[in-house]
Formats: sequence, structure tokens, C-alpha cells
Amino acid sequence: MTIDRLRSHWGLTRMPFAKDLAPSMLHTHRSHAEAVARISWCVQERVIGLVTGEVGAGKSVAVRAALAGLDTSRNTIIYLGNPSVGTRGLYATIVSTLGGTPRFHRASLIPQAAEALAAEEHERGRQVVLVLDEAHLLDAEQLEGLRLLTNVDIDSHSPFACLLVGQPTLRRRIRLGAFAALDQRVALRYSMTGMDHTETSSYVAHHLKIAGRSDTLFSDDALALIHQVSRGLPRAVNNLAVQSLVAAFTDNKAIVDESSARAAVTEVTTE
Ligand SMILES: Nc1ncnc2c1ncn2[C@@H]1O[C@H](COP(=O)(O)OP(=O)(O)O)[C@@H](O)[C@H]1O
Ligand SMILES: [Mg+2]
Repeated sequence: MTIDRLRSHWGLTRMPFAKDLAPSMLHTHRSHAEAVARISWCVQERVIGLVTGEVGAGKSVAVRAALAGLDTSRNTIIYLGNPSVGTRGLYATIVSTLGGTPRFHRASLIPQAAEALAAEEHERGRQVVLVLDEAHLLDAEQLEGLRLLTNVDIDSHSPFACLLVGQPTLRRRIRLGAFAALDQRVALRYSMTGMDHTETSSYVAHHLKIAGRSDTLFSDDALALIHQVSRGLPRAVNNLAVQSLVAAFTDNKAIVDESSARAAVTEVTTE
């Protein structure tokens, strides 16, 4: 089976449930909209925000949507998508994103990063937004480094906005004694939950519409099963919906019924 045959069977102009939706094309269910609003608030107020949620809950998408609305002439975004670069890598990323050449020794790299962050604000008048995605993977030393960087003006405003985005373990992790100082500086905590049943249905319809079909392709009981198994988490819905389309296509059906969705569940959960 080729993707092209699948697309043409369903009369779709592109593959649905794609990862690369433009911010304006996103589905606005409650947890997405709330996350975007809160992330924007953190950026505006220059505070540390903690956004958590299970794998595939839509965290990275919400961050991208919130940052897409920022004026790039006044904001500098430093995005670290993978913390497994060590403490040095974290500071080096900050320095090089701000246009500097990271110093070799860590002891001089830390003040260099702090200076670069301050200069961005005070000399260039730009606000820095530091985003640490997959932040549950940050090690103790990286978290300590972050505390140092955010500790500059204890009572006045923070030098920059910082978003820690990660799986639910992140919340517990930074609540541990060693990171109490950082935890106290967290001004906002938001945990993204799955969509409810109505939202899952409209989410599926939304992705299909973007791909060229605005009529009903999934039966109600197929959607109910997809919702139940995915618990409304967008990435899981994507996977189940695509596999359901494949199963119904294989059986040459014109709509995705419950038995196609059931075949998809078996496919996805036994992978
Ligand atoms: N608001 C949304 N509108 C449309 N698709 C979404 C939305 N949120 C998430 N998705 C889909 O779910 C997938 C997983 O989202 P992502 O943000 O990568 O999850 P997380 O970062 O929480 O693991 C995305 O690739 C995208 O296809
Ligand atoms: Mg992510």
C-alpha cells in the first residue's frame, strides 16, 4: 500500500494528522488554548513557567503556537529541544544563540552566558525567552545552572522568561529539596490534560478538513473507541486515526467504522 493510494481512496489532498501544521491551522481545544495563554503570560511577565503533560499531549505544539505570536524584532527565543547536551552545552547554546562564541572553560562560560543575557536586554532592548523542552531530562547540574542564571535580580524582575516544558515527572523533580530555590521562582504551573470526547471528535474532523475532507469519515463508535484508547492525547489520536484509515482502506470501506478502529487499536498497541 502506498501513501498515494491511501490518499486517493479517501479523496484527500494531503496526508492528514501531519506534524507540521502552521500555528494558524491548529485545533484549539481547551488544554491547548489554556497552555498557549499561560505561556504567553509567562513571556510577557518574564517569569519562569512550568508546562507539563504526558508524551504527545501537545506541549511542544502549544509552545510553538505561543511563540509564533511574538514580535521577533523585540524578542529573542532560545530553544533547547534536547537537554542531553550537558551543562556546558546548555550555556554554550545560550551564548551562541545570542551571537557570541562560547568560551572553552565552563567556569568562564557561565558568566559569559549571564552577561550575554543581560546585554541582550539592556543594550539591545530585546527580551529573551529561554525554552527548555523535554526538561524532565535536565540533570541536577543543569537545573542548578538554571537557578544561577535566573537568580540575577532577586527582587526586581527576572532577566528573562523561562519555560520548562516536560513530562509530569518534571514537577516532582524540581520540587525536591535541592531545587527548592528554583521551584520557588516558578510563577506558573500548568499541566496539559487529554481532550474530552467532544474535543477528540472535533480534533479528528479538523485534521481531516485540513487534508481535504470536511464530510463525516469516522463513525461515532469509531471515534468513541479512539478517544477511549488515546485518552484524548493528540499524538495517540493521530496514530490511531491514521491506522483506522489504513484498515478501512484495506477493507475497501467508504467510512471508518468501529471494526476498522478496533483493527487500528490492535495495530498501534502491539507495535
Ligand atoms: N492544537 C493542536 N492542533 C493540531 N494538532 C495538534 C495539536 N496539539 C498537538 N497536535 C498533534 O499532536 C502531536 C503531538 O504534539 P506535541 O506538542 O509534539 O506533544 P508533546 O510535546 O506534548 O509530546 C503533534 O505532532 C501534532 O500532530
Ligand atoms: Mg514535545
